[in-house]
Amino acid sequence: MKYAHIVGWGSYLPEKKLTNHDIAHMVETTDEWIYTRTGIRERRIAAEKETTATLAFEAAARALAVADIPPSQVDLIIVATSTPEYVFPATAVQVQDLLGATKAGAFDLAAACSGFVYGLDMASQAITTGSIETAVVIGAETLSRIVDWTDRGTCILFGDGAGAVVLKGSSVPGGLLSSILRADGSGADMLKMASVYDSPLPMFDLDFPPERENPKRIEMNGRQVFRFATRVVAESIVKVVEDAGLTLDEVDLIVPHQANMRIIEATAKRLKIPVEKFFMNVDRVGNTSTASIPLALCDASSAGRLHPDDNVVFVGFGGGLTWAAAAIKWDVTPPDVSFDERDWQRARYIWARFRSRLRQAGRQLGARLFGSPTPDARMKDARRDAERK
Ligand code: UT7
Repeated sequence: MKYAHIVGWGSYLPEKKLTNHDIAHMVETTDEWIYTRTGIRERRIAAEKETTATLAFEAAARALAVADIPPSQVDLIIVATSTPEYVFPATAVQVQDLLGATKAGAFDLAAACSGFVYGLDMASQAITTGSIETAVVIGAETLSRIVDWTDRGTCILFGDGAGAVVLKGSSVPGGLLSSILRADGSGADMLKMASVYDSPLPMFDLDFPPERENPKRIEMNGRQVFRFATRVVAESIVKVVEDAGLTLDEVDLIVPHQANMRIIEATAKRLKIPVEKFFMNVDRVGNTSTASIPLALCDASSAGRLHPDDNVVFVGFGGGLTWAAAAIKWDVTPPDVSFDERDWQRARYIWARFRSRLRQAGRQLGARLFGSPTPDARMKDARRDAERK
């Protein structure tokens, strides 16, 4: 019997802070309104050169440093995100390349803000069945790129960032104890962002790139999402704790999706448990969607809120509608090592980048030297070259 244990965790936040006061210069709102309605004071905004993949890479590299596991031992990388840079290739594959995780499979997971818990469940199942040994599960977002900065109902909420955990198989009982995944597509309209396929454009008689009248942005019915969240978060916690064979009293820490302080307070009230049992960092980072739970987990660890043998619950909810929860036996003593102290690990990632470039160059050289892969195509190439001459 194999158990999937969290053995590493890491997060990354962009440097740039955007405070409520800054937003008050952009839309009609105030610091007081935002703080009392959401609990948010500030959020981070990715720099121009930062992407979801670079944020995810930074978080994963830190998590692997804590786990003391080299990327070459990673079997699976899952990136939960709502802001992939490309429809394909997956952000997870970009991360695989940046890490130099040469034997890992990699894919993205789209379950909005519940994505991290979905990913945790998927990776844990793969470990407990014995199909893989080590996985990195990441939640990463550059939501600032898809927020409508003229809509005060949404732009006050979201921020950028990434968090990751490393999961490893072990015969020692513990790790992921139980999990539940849920979805209700009838609520799709409550929180969504259209894809490139929405309002199809005729692909002729248009200058390229076609000008979009309505660039795609997050749309949300805040009140409805609020109501949905307070119901499902409480229900999911009760169910996952029960499935783990625990009682609510035995839960040491709940790390919920950081969407709104009031949702967390309402949940605590519903469950009749002290709000202190919930870890909150929404004031400093805002709603970072898939990144919010692993980001909060890392902050909880830094704040000394995690101890060996603690029972920890993760609970997420969001667009889809989706929601998910997981109960975990926290059985690691946080190592007294920060990523910065392991600067030498950076050399590994510089090598990974070099190796990737080398492979690209090799492919280009191969194409030049050997031309097309089949005799037929080679003949066509030769004919085309002759015609050109
Ligand atoms: O990751 C999961 C995704 N999302 C969520 O979890 C979001 C869940 N929902 C929420 O967090 C809250 O619904 C919001 C924070 C988005 C909004 O708070 P609310 O208490 O539900 O406000 P509301 O939408 O009911 O609006 C109340 C009033 C309205 O004015 P009137 O109609 O009463 O005159 C809004 O126009 O507040 C107004 N308002 C604002 N005022 C100042 C809405 N946004 C703002 C704003 N600043 N930013």
